[in-house]
Amino acid sequence: MKGRAVYIKTFGCQMNEHDTERMLGIFESKGFIEVEEPKKADIVVFNTCAIRQKAEQKFLSSLGRIKHLKKKNPELKIIVAGCVAQLQGEKLLDRVPYIDYIIGPDNIHMIENILENQISNKIFTDENPLVANIKIPAKRMHHVKAWVNIMYGCNNYCAYCVVPYTRGRERSRPVESILEEIRLLGESGFKEITLLGQNVNSYRDGDIDFPSLLEKINEIKGIERIRFVTSHPKDLSKRLINAIKYCDKVCEHIHLPLQAGSNKILKLMNRKYTYEEYFEKICWLREAIPDISITSDIIVGFPQEQDEDFEKTINALKEIQFDGIFAFKFSPRTGTVAAKLDGQISEEVKSQRLTEILKLQDKITERKNKLLEGTIQEVLIEDKDEEEYSTGRTRTNKIVKIASDIGTGKIINVKIIKAHRHSLEGEIIKQ
Ligand code: 5AD
Ligand code: SF4
Repeated sequence: MKGRAVYIKTFGCQMNEHDTERMLGIFESKGFIEVEEPKKADIVVFNTCAIRQKAEQKFLSSLGRIKHLKKKNPELKIIVAGCVAQLQGEKLLDRVPYIDYIIGPDNIHMIENILENQISNKIFTDENPLVANIKIPAKRMHHVKAWVNIMYGCNNYCAYCVVPYTRGRERSRPVESILEEIRLLGESGFKEITLLGQNVNSYRDGDIDFPSLLEKINEIKGIERIRFVTSHPKDLSKRLINAIKYCDKVCEHIHLPLQAGSNKILKLMNRKYTYEEYFEKICWLREAIPDISITSDIIVGFPQEQDEDFEKTINALKEIQFDGIFAFKFSPRTGTVAAKLDGQISEEVKSQRLTEILKLQDKITERKNKLLEGTIQEVLIEDKDEEEYSTGRTRTNKIVKIASDIGTGKIINVKIIKAHRHSLEGEIIKQ
C-alpha cells in the first residue's frame, strides 16, 4: 500500500477502544500517521460495535458518508473491523461492495499482512484460539492510564447478548505476558491500569485466578491504581472482595451489572443468579469495604417484562442505591435467544421505562455525591483543560474538577467543595 495516513472511528466499549489502540500501534509501526478526517486518509477503519441496533446503525451511516470519497479516490482503502465485521462478514461485503477488508476482533494482527500486501483475502473472521497469546504494539490514547486485556471472549450466553458470537469463547491471557505489559507501563510512567475482559472474575491461567492476578499486579512498581471491568455477579467471590480490600492499589469501585430486578426476567436472561443472591453480594461488598462505589447496567423492556417486573427493577435501584448506572432499552440482536422470545415490548413502553429509571437513578446519584461534600478524596489527575482546570478521578471513579493547574499523573488529596450529578468540584488542601 502506498498511502501513509489512517483515520479510525471507534464505536462501542472499552475493549473496542483498546483494540483501536492496537490497530493504531500496527499502523504506526508501518509508518502511518493518524488523521482526524476521513478525507485526509489513505485508509479508513471503522471499529464497529454490534451490542445494540443503534450502534450498528451509527456505523452504517458513517460508512455511507464516506462512499463519495471512495468514488473520488479509488485508491482509498476501507477496513471494517470489530463486532459487526465478525457477525456479518461476507453479508456485509455483499451489501457494501466498496469495503476492502473485513476484520473480526480475533484477527487484528492481520492488518500487518494487509499493509505488507501479503494477502489476497478480504475477510478475516476465523476464530483464533491463540489471540490471547499474540503480542501487538499499542498506541495509547492516554499517558496516565492504560487498558490491559486479560481475557478475550465470553462463555456466559446471556440471552440478549451478541458478544459470545462476536468475540468467541472465553480465553485467558497468560499471566506472565500480562505482568510484563504492566511492568513496562509502570516503567513508562503510567499510573493507572484498567484490566479488561468480558467477565474478568473468571480469569484463570493454571493456578492463578483473578484475585491472585490482582495480588501480583499490586506488586508492580510505578502503577498506583488498578481497576477492572466487567465482573459477572455469579462469579463475584469473597476472595475477590478480599483482594479489593487488601491490595492497596486496587480501587474501591466495582461495576457489577444487575440487568433486572425481577427473578423471572433474570431467568429468561440466563443470568444465573436471583435478585436475592445479587443483593447478598452487595451486602458482602459494603460490609468489607464500606466506601466502595458500585455501578451497574440495567436493561429495560426485555421480552415479557410486565409492569410488575419493571417495578422490581425500580425497587432494586431504591434498595441498592448504586453510585451510577448505564441503562439501555432492550435491543433484539439476530442470533440471540432473546430476539426470538414471545412477548416483545413496544418501543413506547421501553422509552417510558428508560426515562423513569434514569430519573430515579439521577436522584440517587446526586444524593450519593452530595454525601461527599466536605470529605477529603485522593485524586489522580488525568487531564487539564484550557481554562486551567485539572480533572481527575477519586479511587471510587468519580470525576473531580479542580480550579488549579496541577499536572497530569499527580496523586493529591482534594477537599470536595461541591457535588453535581456527574462530577464533583474540589480544592487542593495543604499537604
Ligand atoms: N439490548 C440492550 N442492552 C444490551 N446490553 C447487552 N446486550 C444488549 C441488548 N441486546 C447491555 C447490557 C450489558 C451492557 C454492556 O450492554 O446491560 O451489560
Ligand atoms: Fe464491545 Fe460488545 Fe460492542 Fe463488541 S458488541 S464492541 S464487545 S460492547
